[in-house]
Amino acid sequence: MLHSLCSTLLSSEVPCLSKEEIEHLLEKPKHREHGDVSFPCFALANLRKTSPQQIAKELSQNLSSPLVRKIEAVGPYVNFFFDPAAVAKEMVNEILAKDSSFGSNQNGDGATIAVDLSSPNIAKPFSMGHLRSTVIGNSLCLIGEKNGYQMVKINYVGDWGTQFGKLIYAYLQWGHPEKVAQNPIEELFTLYVKFHSEAEKDPSLEEDGRKAFQQLEVGNQEYSQIWKSFKEASLLAFQKVYDLLGISFDSWKGESAYNEKMEATISILEEKGLLVESDGAIIVTLENENLPPCLIKKRDGATLYATRDLTAVYDRYHDYHFSHAFYVVGHEQSIHFKQVFSVLKKLEAPFADVLEHIPFGLYLKDGQKMSTRKGRVILLEEVLEESISKAQQNIVARNPDLPNLQEVAKQVGVGAILFHDLKQDRMNSIEFDLDEMLVFEGETGPYLQYTHARAQSLLRKSGEDSFHFSYESHEKSWELIKLLYSFPNQVKQAFVKRSPAIIAQYLLKVAKLFNQYYSQVKILSESEEKESRLALVKAVTVILKEGMRLLGMKAPDQM
Ligand code: ARG
Repeated sequence: MLHSLCSTLLSSEVPCLSKEEIEHLLEKPKHREHGDVSFPCFALANLRKTSPQQIAKELSQNLSSPLVRKIEAVGPYVNFFFDPAAVAKEMVNEILAKDSSFGSNQNGDGATIAVDLSSPNIAKPFSMGHLRSTVIGNSLCLIGEKNGYQMVKINYVGDWGTQFGKLIYAYLQWGHPEKVAQNPIEELFTLYVKFHSEAEKDPSLEEDGRKAFQQLEVGNQEYSQIWKSFKEASLLAFQKVYDLLGISFDSWKGESAYNEKMEATISILEEKGLLVESDGAIIVTLENENLPPCLIKKRDGATLYATRDLTAVYDRYHDYHFSHAFYVVGHEQSIHFKQVFSVLKKLEAPFADVLEHIPFGLYLKDGQKMSTRKGRVILLEEVLEESISKAQQNIVARNPDLPNLQEVAKQVGVGAILFHDLKQDRMNSIEFDLDEMLVFEGETGPYLQYTHARAQSLLRKSGEDSFHFSYESHEKSWELIKLLYSFPNQVKQAFVKRSPAIIAQYLLKVAKLFNQYYSQVKILSESEEKESRLALVKAVTVILKEGMRLLGMKAPDQM
C-alpha cells in the first residue's frame, strides 16, 4: 500500500511511465536506514539518456508529500521515509470516506462473466454438493462484481436425462399422486431408489426407463405433463433453500431448455467432421487430448449431459457475449468439463479459451461422503433450520433480550454454514459439524459476526455518529490499520485465484487483531485519542461488514 502511495507521488514527475509500471519498479529496501520504499532510476535513465544518479537527485529534490518525512537520493535510488502517523490518518479516513465501496476496483471494466452455479437436479433432494456450488458460486459472483465485472448467475437446473424416464416409469408403476403432491422430494426420491432396487432384480426395467425417456424427448403429452409437475414441485422446494440462503439467480435455463436445440449442435459437430460412430452410439474421440471419448448420442438416439452442455454454452455466448464462463461444479466432474471444453476447441468456438471449471471438494460426515444413498435423505432445508435453531439457543444464552432475535438467529445460523464452507481452500473436503460451526470463539462465522456486533456496540455507546481519525498511539493500531488497508488487495487476489477463502481468512485476521487491540485499549475512556480510536473501530466495522457481504453473509449490528 505504501507502494501505491509512492507510485502516485512519482507519477507526476515521471510522465513517461504509467503508475503500474512505476509500481512494478518499486522495491522494499533491505536496510531500514534506506527508508520504507525505494525507487531505482535505471529504467528511467535508459529512457531519458541521463545517468540514474542524476535522475535520483532531481526526483528527490522535486518530490514532496505530507505523508513522507524524508525523500533522499542514494546513488541511483530514491528512498522514501514515510511518516506512520500521517499515513495511518490517510488510510483510516479513506476507509471511512469510501465506506462499503472501499476495496472496489474496475479491473473487469464491466465485462460479463457467465457463472453456472447451484444447478441441483429436480426430483432429488438438494444435496450438500449443490450447497457448496451455490455458496462458492455466489461468493465468486460478489467478488467478481467488486472487481468490476458483471456477473450473470445461471442456475442450470438438472431437469433432463434418462433418469427422468426411469422416474416417470416408477411413478406410473408404484407412485401415489397424493403422496407425491404432499412430499414431492422425498416421495420422488423413494420412487427413484425403488426403481434401482427393482432393476437389480429385473434388468429389463432399464429398457423400460430408457423408452420412457425417449417418449419424453419426443414430447409425449402425458409424460411431459408428469415431468412438468415434478419440476414445479422441486423448484418450489429448492426456493425455500435459496430464500434461507438469501441467494437469487439471473437465469433458470436448465438442461431441458436445450432439448430442441440439440440437433443444431450435432450438425455443427457433423460439419466439422468430428463425429464418429462407435457401437451404434455417436462420439467425438479425444485420444490426442488423453481423454475418454465424449458421448454425443446414445444408441437409442437419446442425447447426453455433454450434448446439453455443448448446446447450452453456445446459447449463453449468444445471450451474454461473456468474456469468461465459470462452471462451479464438484471436482468429480473434472473429466466431463475437460471433454466438453476440448470438443469446443476442436469446433474452434470463439469462446473456447475462456471457459473455466471451478471445482471443489466433498462434504464429509464423520469422514464419509455425505450423500443421499439408499434412501437416507438429508434434507438441506432441515439442516439449515437446525443450524438456525442452534444459533438461536447460543444467542439467547448470551443476550436474552436481543430485539429481532429470530432474524439475527437466521443470519447467524446461515452465516455459520456459509463461513464453514468458504474459509477452507475450496479443493479441500470439509467435515460437516454443526456444533463446531456455531461456536462464538474459534474460526467461525458467528465469531466474525459477534466481533462486528461488539464493535458496533462500542460505537453506539459512544453516542457519536461521525468519525474522524487523527492520531492513535497504541502499537497494535498501526498493525491493524495496515491490515485493514490491505483489503483492496485481498479483493483482487480472491478474484484472481477464484478463492473466497482469501477473504474469509483475511477477515479472521482482522477480527483477531481487533480483539487483541480491544482487550488492550480502553476505547471509550476519555482522552484526546478517543475520537481516533472510535474512528478505527468504525473502520473495522466497515471492513468486516463488506468482507462478510462478499461471502454472502449478513453482519447484524447486535447479537
Ligand atoms: N446438475 C448437475 C449435477 O448435479 C450439475 C450441473 C453443472 N453444470 C453444468 N453445466 N454441467 O451433477
